Amino acid sequence: MIQAAAGRTNPVFNDRKLKLGTFGTNLDRGCAISSIDGVLEINWPNTVTLAKISEEMDFEALVPIGRWHGFGGKTNFNGPGFECFAWAAGMSASTRYSGIFATSHVPTIHPVMAAKQAAAIDHISNGRFALNIVTGWNRPEIEMFGTPMMEHDDRYECAVEWLQVIKQLWTRDDMFDFEGRFFHIKKGYLEPKPIQQPFPPVMNAGGSEKGQHFAAKYCDMVYVVFGSHDFDECKAKVDAYRNLARQEYGRELQVWSYAYVVQGDTEKEAQDYFDYYVNQNGDWEAVTNLVETMIANAKTLPPPVLAEMKKHFIAGWGGYPIVGTPEQIAESLVTLSKIGLNGTLLNFPRYIDDMRRFQRDAYPLVKQAGLR
Ligand SMILES: Cc1cc2nc3c(=O)[nH]c(=O)nc-3n(C[C@H](O)[C@H](O)[C@H](O)COP(=O)(O)O)c2cc1C
Repeated sequence: MIQAAAGRTNPVFNDRKLKLGTFGTNLDRGCAISSIDGVLEINWPNTVTLAKISEEMDFEALVPIGRWHGFGGKTNFNGPGFECFAWAAGMSASTRYSGIFATSHVPTIHPVMAAKQAAAIDHISNGRFALNIVTGWNRPEIEMFGTPMMEHDDRYECAVEWLQVIKQLWTRDDMFDFEGRFFHIKKGYLEPKPIQQPFPPVMNAGGSEKGQHFAAKYCDMVYVVFGSHDFDECKAKVDAYRNLARQEYGRELQVWSYAYVVQGDTEKEAQDYFDYYVNQNGDWEAVTNLVETMIANAKTLPPPVLAEMKKHFIAGWGGYPIVGTPEQIAESLVTLSKIGLNGTLLNFPRYIDDMRRFQRDAYPLVKQAGLR
């Protein structure tokens, strides 16, 4: 099975012990479903500012979220935002080091178009592009395109063909035809090829069994979402993903996750901040819309379980919680490395101010800990 080469141009292949990135800097409010002042207001200068701060810390990955509709509530969380390929092109021209991702919904973009845009962005970024494939779970946004939402496993069958077409366009010198269930390509052709050879890294965050097999078989980077934050359970989840790829497909994967960072000078200050932006000022209507669209059986979950889940989504899109002093933040990142992750995306409630604070106080400790 061909994999992206661990080439020199994309920093996601560097040898840092724990790679870092940002998540969702292309969307209004970033990852915090909260109405407090100071959360990310989406405009081009702000998203570029976050990329610049990332680059000052040599972050390896800037991963946007593919989103076409907001989640209502008083914030219309993640409604306003920049489309991912256009964002990635602009971001590539505004940065020098970080890996630039585009998140692409399979049903919203034809593979010829995705391959062509990706190749252009790989050139603009001088070989720093990566493709995040998502199959789409948010029915209203898929229906906005006038196409019915496919059944869950069919979405991945479609993604297999979509990616097969893209990889052929990226690698084949001859013109080719492709006859599949979902796509029909006549005389497929793409020049210039991407800078990264044989092609840029491909990421997927499949969580279901079908999604995990798709990622293990065809992708280079996978993302795990931790349901529990117990060390052994997290480690078992990471190990299981790696073993699936090794044993069933003879492939090596990078395994990443994502986390939200809430920093305080004292642990109490960090917890008070969490309480303020989540419990007191969370947009509970928006998060209810999000969770009930994403999780089919949400309404049948025990209320305390559902409430806890919503809190994590308000705090940072359900990521791994890192709440505490700079020392505790560095320790948590050491833990994520020990769990076996190659990297993690981070997000912050007041994205710009809090990321600067992380850079000033916590990042030097992350380096001291030998992670970077
Ligand atoms: C780090 C990460 C990034 C994701 N980005 C997006 C995204 O931008 N847009 C989207 O619709 N889904 C996104 N997802 C959802 C996944 O693509 C996937 O649908 C979800 O994890 C459930 O897995 P399943 O599709 O195997 O059921 C993301 C998930 C993770 C963990």
